Amino acid sequence: MIEKVGVIGAGQMGSGIVQVCAVAGLSVVLSDINAEQLTKSVAGIARNLDRQVAKGKLSEADKDAALARIVTGTDLSVFHDSDLVIEAATEAEEVKRMILKALVPNLSPTAIIATNTSSISITRLAAATDRPARFIGMHFMNPVPVMQLVEIIRGIATDDETFQSIKALTVKLGKTAAIAEDFPAFIVNRILLPMINEAVYTLYEGVGGVEAIDTAMKLGANHPMGPLELADFIGLDTCLSIMQVLYEGLADSKYRPCPLMVKYVEAGWLGRKVGRGFYDYS
Ligand code: CAA
Repeated sequence: MIEKVGVIGAGQMGSGIVQVCAVAGLSVVLSDINAEQLTKSVAGIARNLDRQVAKGKLSEADKDAALARIVTGTDLSVFHDSDLVIEAATEAEEVKRMILKALVPNLSPTAIIATNTSSISITRLAAATDRPARFIGMHFMNPVPVMQLVEIIRGIATDDETFQSIKALTVKLGKTAAIAEDFPAFIVNRILLPMINEAVYTLYEGVGGVEAIDTAMKLGANHPMGPLELADFIGLDTCLSIMQVLYEGLADSKYRPCPLMVKYVEAGWLGRKVGRGFYDYS
């Protein structure tokens, strides 16, 4: 039974995961090295829940109870009694490995570790811990409170008890699971990111402008967001990391990251979170 959940990383994914766990009645501990980010994250969750209250989708009492279930801390020792810790740090293998190594001595021996990686090998990340049998991929979609899906990915050593616990938790969070094998970028991003990369090539080659490409896919294919708007929303650094994992992991030139995407990331134009990407948000 998973009752106490820990989340590492107070960015957009970590914050969303904390929100859905707290609303589902779980105790949540959120940790980030940046104390200011923790404050921002909890304020953002409170704002989201206030909107739910205003729309009549959540009672004031349930909102207060959910917020009271969230504890934050900058130290990994906050996870000492967590049943599950979900790592939702930056999408960079070295960063994730470093965090996982530091996390292990702070955990109870029976705790499960899940990673929210959107592309990196679960088996490889599991090897950075002392418990590959109790390690699993639990990939939420952005924005977490709205998106229905959780991809669940077993590493080569993940045991059945861990898999069943995470499947049951997914249901408890009101989400639907899709089970993916441990191949680069799993299912969603194996399909979604090459489409986004192709949209950037379409811009790079002058086939269409930003607005034309997004309008074409929104109105021509009924996508809720155009691919360039979606790239800005995901973060161009994350998009590039995923394309690099696909390109290196599958060794096929069809996954070559578009040079324009590389250039934007090098410029620091990472999308909505920094105020500039394919669109200007300032
Ligand atoms: N956090 C919390 N809730 C949010 C939100 C956010 N960031 N953004 C929107 N919402 C909520 C709104 O409050 C609203 O809630 P109610 O239905 O309860 O009123 C609901 O979502 C719809 O929002 P809006 O009416 O304001 O806007 P919309 O209809 O344009 O929908 C959207 C917004 C849900 C984000 C929609 O544009 C969409 O589905 N976009 C595509 C998202 C997508 O593809 N996500 C996957 C990205 S890939 C990924 O995550 C994998 C990866 O590893 C990279």
